[in-house]
Amino acid sequence: MRALLLIVLAGALVGHAHARQAPQVNDVCAPDPSQADADLYCIELLPAADIERGTGTARLVQPSSPFGIAVSASGHTQYSVVFTLRDLPDPDSLGPYTTFVAWATTPQLRPVTKLGTVTEGTSHAGLVDYDRFLILITAERSAEVREPTGKMVLRGTSASLRMQPHDVGFMLGGLLEQKNAPAASDAHAGHAGHAPAGPGEWTAPPMHPEISMPPAFMALRPDVSSYLPRASDTAPLARPRELVRLQDGEQLVLVAEPVRRVLFGRTVTMLGFNGQYPGPLIEVDEGSTIVVQFTNRTDFPTAVHWHGLRLDNRFDGAPHVTQDPVEPGASFEYRVFFRDAGIYWYHPHHREDVLQDLGLYGNLLVRSRDPGFFAPANREEILMLDDLLVADGALVGYGLESPTHALMGRFGNALLVNGEPRWQSRVRRGDVVRFFLTNVSSTRVFNLSFDGRARIKVVASDLGLYEREAWVDNVTIAPAERYIVDVRFAEAGEVALVNRVRAIDHMMARFFEERHVLGVVTVSSERATPDHQASFDLLRSNRAVSADIDKYRPHFSRPVDRQLAITLETTDLPFPLRPLFNLESVYRHPVEWAGTMPEMDWIVSGRQARWILRDGATQRENMDIDWRFRLGDVIKIRLVNDRTALHAMQHPIHIHGQRFLVLSVNGVPNDNLVWKDTVLLPTGFVADVLLEISNPGKWMLHCHVAEHIEAGMRMVFEVEK
Ligand code: C2O
Ligand code: CU
Ligand code: CU
Repeated sequence: MRALLLIVLAGALVGHAHARQAPQVNDVCAPDPSQADADLYCIELLPAADIERGTGTARLVQPSSPFGIAVSASGHTQYSVVFTLRDLPDPDSLGPYTTFVAWATTPQLRPVTKLGTVTEGTSHAGLVDYDRFLILITAERSAEVREPTGKMVLRGTSASLRMQPHDVGFMLGGLLEQKNAPAASDAHAGHAGHAPAGPGEWTAPPMHPEISMPPAFMALRPDVSSYLPRASDTAPLARPRELVRLQDGEQLVLVAEPVRRVLFGRTVTMLGFNGQYPGPLIEVDEGSTIVVQFTNRTDFPTAVHWHGLRLDNRFDGAPHVTQDPVEPGASFEYRVFFRDAGIYWYHPHHREDVLQDLGLYGNLLVRSRDPGFFAPANREEILMLDDLLVADGALVGYGLESPTHALMGRFGNALLVNGEPRWQSRVRRGDVVRFFLTNVSSTRVFNLSFDGRARIKVVASDLGLYEREAWVDNVTIAPAERYIVDVRFAEAGEVALVNRVRAIDHMMARFFEERHVLGVVTVSSERATPDHQASFDLLRSNRAVSADIDKYRPHFSRPVDRQLAITLETTDLPFPLRPLFNLESVYRHPVEWAGTMPEMDWIVSGRQARWILRDGATQRENMDIDWRFRLGDVIKIRLVNDRTALHAMQHPIHIHGQRFLVLSVNGVPNDNLVWKDTVLLPTGFVADVLLEISNPGKWMLHCHVAEHIEAGMRMVFEVEK
């Protein structure tokens, strides 16, 4: 008894002494170069009021996911927690307790999620997916407790809880009104926007329906002129894409030209390949080569890039890197080689923010020569996911001299599947449908599901099959990525394909759901024939993929060869933006899923923002970086997304002409690999990728947000034979 008392007393003394000292490195969320940004993803735990000692950290790590980022079907980010606890008192010194238990709960203190028991030192626990939350550690009678009923010991709060509602925006709005008094009135006209804007004039994007902005903010305009294709009565009326099946050596004529589209009850002039939306679906066999005669009938110089293909460098379609741009009216002949089975796509590689967004994109479906490459399915759906920014039935213009939306990228307010606002499909009950998904939007990351009404199995991504198929609730797909999923529709009825994400209203410090229906699958009561349920219920392991990857496993643990930091420089931002972004940066979502401030996002042009890839060894940036490799090299690259950038956000990083493995995200090893050409790097995240150098030439590495590549975020590396 006396011994116990002594210990308690000693403990209390040590505790007090400790409290006066600066915390030790282990006790704080110290930056760690291999882990996610501590400010956003590490929570400091402090003792409750009457607890004399104990400190700790709760690091938010993401469970390994086939999509690189773990989110639920509702769009909530999922974290498991690594606790590091120091100097805890004995639980029985605090009362009739035997153990410590960690909990997560919302600011309303309900519901409460039990994360698990924790101890002095390191413990791994639970899964949290609240928008904002508290982490609590309590002393409890038993590890079996279901609710925190014991004594509170340590606590901490998520970074998202730092957001507070305020009227700073309205204050800034007032200031702006005084500064720009004359501009405010034409802003008003622009915003009411019923008269269509004349050539070169801007039509402002509509406000987000959930979020109000100070009226004076609407005075702002981009510092570039508005471009839209000239309205034409002679341009062909676009028709849905056609399947073009090409054998080895066959040719295709591909023309990028103005087309008329009827969208939202109005006729608009957009662009199309061969008068189609999307461009022709080109189906070929693995190992074949086709010849494409491309002609540019758009207003911009351009080129066609064959995204994800390991083809001959001369035909990669990167203007100023692999070819001269194809001027308006001119042509170029591509020889396109298909080395890997899977789903790929083609798009312009100059001013994608304009040309691709106006409709220039198409899929390439490369069939494996192995008939058992995929499990059987009843049908296939090849879907290109996109969004379009419309105001009063017209398109919002594009920056002529330089892109608008240079920070956030251009979020559309109308979601499109294969160029249509409402995609539809009819299937039979029990059909297994194989979806080939490609995200062709400028910046939007989609989080797709069927409202839990159909099982989804993820099978393949950018360049082929996963090591192992996996069940998923939802598919998270960043710009330029591809996923192939098998879906079985077991029950008759209408099943919606939805995009569900968490959007943030920074002014009001509020999270809310954005849910969009992209299309509807009508499941008839007729039964599927043949019925593939038995094979669908199995998850396949793809031995050949694992065996191929085995050659690279010895490289997984090697030190990092190259590092790229991703950051931003801005100049001359219009007045309220800097304070606005400072305010936003209190908390940044791992992924900005939605454009909740359409006017603010719109007005920053590529003249005011420079997105940066910075080489860790030389500090060189973007096109000044000159990496050189040899054929056969295997290179480990660390990508670090700088959370402190004024407008930190996610970036889908794409590498041309090669393939890579995503080895780890925030230090968590990826346990199910697939060859990729694009990886999504959320805000403040760190990813290690292993790049196989398999194709000689000059290749680009860039962010696939269309406005970011135009705002500088690109580099070239050279591979010698
Ligand atoms: Cu899909 Cu360099 O691009
Ligand atoms: Cu590419
Ligand atoms: Cu980017």
